[in-house]
Amino acid sequence: MSDKLYPVSGDWAARAYVDDAKYKAMYEASVASPEAFWAEHGKRIDWMKPFTKVKNTSYAPDNVSIKWFEDGTTNVSYNCVDRHLAKRGDQVAIIWEGDDPKDDARITYRQLHAQVMKWANVLKSQGVKKGDRVTIYLPMIPEAAYAMLACTRIGAIHSIVFGGFSPDSLAGRIEDAGTSVVITADEGLRGGRKVPLKVNVDAAVEKAPGVVKSVIVVKRTGSPVAMAAGRDHYYTDLAAKVPDECPPEEMNAEDPLFILYTSGSTGKPKGVLHTTGGYLVYASMTHQYVFDYKDGDIYWCTADVGWVTGHSYIVYGPLANGATTLMFEGIPTYPSISRFWDVVDKHQVNTFYTAPTAIRSLMGAGEDPVKKTSRSSLRLLGSVGEPINPEAWEWYHRVVGDGRCPIVDTWWQTETGGILITPLPGATALKPGSATRPFFGVKPEVVDAEGKVLSGACEGNLVIADSWPGQMRTVFGDHERFVQTYFSTYAGKYFTGDGCRRDADGYYWITGRVDDVINVSGHRMGTAEVESALVAHPKVSEAAVVGYPHDIKGQGIYAYVTLMSGEEPTEELRKELVAWVRKEIGPIASPDLIQFSPGLPKTRSGKIMRRILRKIAEDEFGSLGDTSTLADPAVVDDLISNRQNRK
Ligand code: WT7
Repeated sequence: MSDKLYPVSGDWAARAYVDDAKYKAMYEASVASPEAFWAEHGKRIDWMKPFTKVKNTSYAPDNVSIKWFEDGTTNVSYNCVDRHLAKRGDQVAIIWEGDDPKDDARITYRQLHAQVMKWANVLKSQGVKKGDRVTIYLPMIPEAAYAMLACTRIGAIHSIVFGGFSPDSLAGRIEDAGTSVVITADEGLRGGRKVPLKVNVDAAVEKAPGVVKSVIVVKRTGSPVAMAAGRDHYYTDLAAKVPDECPPEEMNAEDPLFILYTSGSTGKPKGVLHTTGGYLVYASMTHQYVFDYKDGDIYWCTADVGWVTGHSYIVYGPLANGATTLMFEGIPTYPSISRFWDVVDKHQVNTFYTAPTAIRSLMGAGEDPVKKTSRSSLRLLGSVGEPINPEAWEWYHRVVGDGRCPIVDTWWQTETGGILITPLPGATALKPGSATRPFFGVKPEVVDAEGKVLSGACEGNLVIADSWPGQMRTVFGDHERFVQTYFSTYAGKYFTGDGCRRDADGYYWITGRVDDVINVSGHRMGTAEVESALVAHPKVSEAAVVGYPHDIKGQGIYAYVTLMSGEEPTEELRKELVAWVRKEIGPIASPDLIQFSPGLPKTRSGKIMRRILRKIAEDEFGSLGDTSTLADPAVVDDLISNRQNRK
């Protein structure tokens, strides 16, 4: 924790949409009368048929139902593209910066419009209709945005799968969503290395037989790939055969917009479902206020569209606001460790939004690679995805921002659709490591284990007491799981899964997940998923996975593995298991440390005591707490003496 305070500069208070007094007034109004507040702000998007109803939401466990603007109709692609044409048809909508610094492109709103209509007609040519699901497995190329917006234009529901996921993970998501069309590229390109996207799609389609009818392939590297006759088509071939114009479909505010799979404490990843009207209102409004977005700003969020940050803050929020959004194909360290700052200078980026893990990894190389670039265009910095430690915050502020740029540490989740707790740069004095205060309309509460609402300065679990327009509506195909996961722990409240502290100034400090979810480099991983991948290996009998503090990744993955009898715990097998998990889930799930343990600490009823495993992984085995309920206390001594070195 840091007790430093960075006040709002006079410049920022004057320039921004809201200063502190206005924040307080708007926040009070938003929670005192959500109906009136959102009736006004719901108008920020264009409606085909205006809504007359605003909020119709219930968190009651026997009737969880969330509807916003439910009788309005609109279209997301219309709001992100068509409505800007009159005023900013020739303005750049997307700046694309390729993996190789020589590759870049600037796409105007008019060009974006033409692309989205063409893509929409290509999807139609493959039989896609309103309500159908489309899986997108693309690298960070403009076609990803075209494909997303094309889905929204015709009312199809996209499900984007991050290009780092394995064929197995992709297959599971294709099957769960029931997608007949998959959009991919021949290969991706990241840090000079090729990613075999089409090969992965082929393997995934085989694992989900009968689901996929059509695969649309974008040529990115141009490498030859196998094309199954009748099933696989190059985008350009399909595009040549369809008309240019495609009117936007009229969608109800509560029609599904997209599904995005995310990990939880148990079971397979859940299909988080977001709908049309409320999501777009919330994504665009937070983008405007949190980043104090003004006409002419060049805005860059370094996320991948495979994550929710890419959905809300590369594509939908910025484009709904008529912004210029930068899309980056590469990685922070290629071709050099100055890449982020070179890109900032090259495109004169004003607002830069990234994850703490990127900052921590760049910090390791010292200040020179940053300081040799200008960065004079930067005005505002943002952080997202995991708690930012005060050291990384200070470095980001002092070195990257030259002490001149406020940092907005934005807390939110795939489920929340947009930012819920965050500073506003003209309004909020900053404390390094704190996400500070709630956005308009958001009612955070801190509760203890029994659900008692704590007041004043306190520490406990973070819940949200009432709905906001960007909230997920259900788990695709499994509403009961939605209710169970988010509304049953603390009846009548949305449970975030995060722990938090509130200080005497009412600032929130997110302390990390309190469930069996870990956050590795800002990516969310269910420990249960890694465990089930490990036990699928023929030599593994049992596995338990926990997180441990990792200098760069935030959390690393620590796996305790019990082998089948007769199997030898060799270094080779360790490597084999890491490769196995990469193949089963994807590289982001690679265990950092594997400890072979003859037994796991279990209660007499057979439940694994994960608390003990966590402590050992954290190197805090001096304070294991009560171990008297263990079936075999001797297991613990073995675990401690054979623990893996964290460094
Ligand atoms: C989890 C959500 C938000 C989009 C990217 C991640 C953690 C996120 C912060 C932050 C502390 C944060 C939480 C949350 N998290 N932002 N600013 N400070 N923790 O979305 O994959 O759904 O993960 O990320 O633990 O629950 P996600």
